[in-house]
Amino acid sequence: MELGNWESTADLNPIYAEIRRLDLERCIAEFDAFGFTVIEPDKVAPRGFHDRLLKAILTVHERRSGQRVTVDDLATASLPGDRPVATYWSLIGEDPVFEEALLNPVVTAMARYMCGKNAMLSDSIALVKRRDDTPTHLLHIDQAGTPPPLPAYQQVINITWALTDYTRANGCVAMVPGSHRFGHMPMPYEENFLSNEGPVKAIPVECAPGSLVIWGGTTWHGSYPRTADGLRVNLIQVFCRSYMKPVRDFRNEIPKEIVDRNGPEFAQLIGLKSLYPIDKDKPFDMEARNRFLSAGLNQWG
Ligand SMILES: [Fe+2]
Repeated sequence: MELGNWESTADLNPIYAEIRRLDLERCIAEFDAFGFTVIEPDKVAPRGFHDRLLKAILTVHERRSGQRVTVDDLATASLPGDRPVATYWSLIGEDPVFEEALLNPVVTAMARYMCGKNAMLSDSIALVKRRDDTPTHLLHIDQAGTPPPLPAYQQVINITWALTDYTRANGCVAMVPGSHRFGHMPMPYEENFLSNEGPVKAIPVECAPGSLVIWGGTTWHGSYPRTADGLRVNLIQVFCRSYMKPVRDFRNEIPKEIVDRNGPEFAQLIGLKSLYPIDKDKPFDMEARNRFLSAGLNQWG
């Protein structure tokens, strides 16, 4: 149908128009039905962008772990130490490519459709995962700590850039389709989807490098142990609604020059325009208050 500038969906109209422009309607339908979706690489960014992201993460890996891994090593390399997964939090500021990934139109359209026009980044994280039989991520939800009943609308969304080939042998994500409607997080006896005796069955999400795998904060998921040689690399962007507490304190962590070089949309996405915390020494931000109030009128605010 033709979209209109309808008053009762004032916040949703531009967000939905952007979803349609980017050919993402199938993705939001899949997400609504199953609690997750996959967006193919060609819709997301040119191939060169995925390569830049991958190289930037390998540079962070070298800086923080001391181990040099090149793209050519990825099929055979492993990780030092005992941990099967290296986790790198707080990537904004490490390389401008992470700022570009945040401003990617597909990312912002999906984040805003799911978490409202004021959706904020909670953190950008990279995982580097090696061959190891140890189950690292049993079933869980990404908004752990939210008491049941979990809301039917999204408060948190995970947008994961798969930057190496996602297959079950490569340790891809495991999803429980439809679990975003269960209303609670997995109980301990439900977590082990790798056990044949476990009560909950998951499916592997296999996709090409450069794809986005997107799921909600209430969708039950985990990941398969990597049984193949080499490393799995991804970038995880977690978004939350504007009334929630992000993982990072971007207000105090991001240098002004990074905000200035990216402009107002970036500032909004890292929460610099959100109402909270209110600074008692500054004039009350009426514009932020009005944005916050409109967010209370519908799930797209
Ligand atoms: Fe997770």
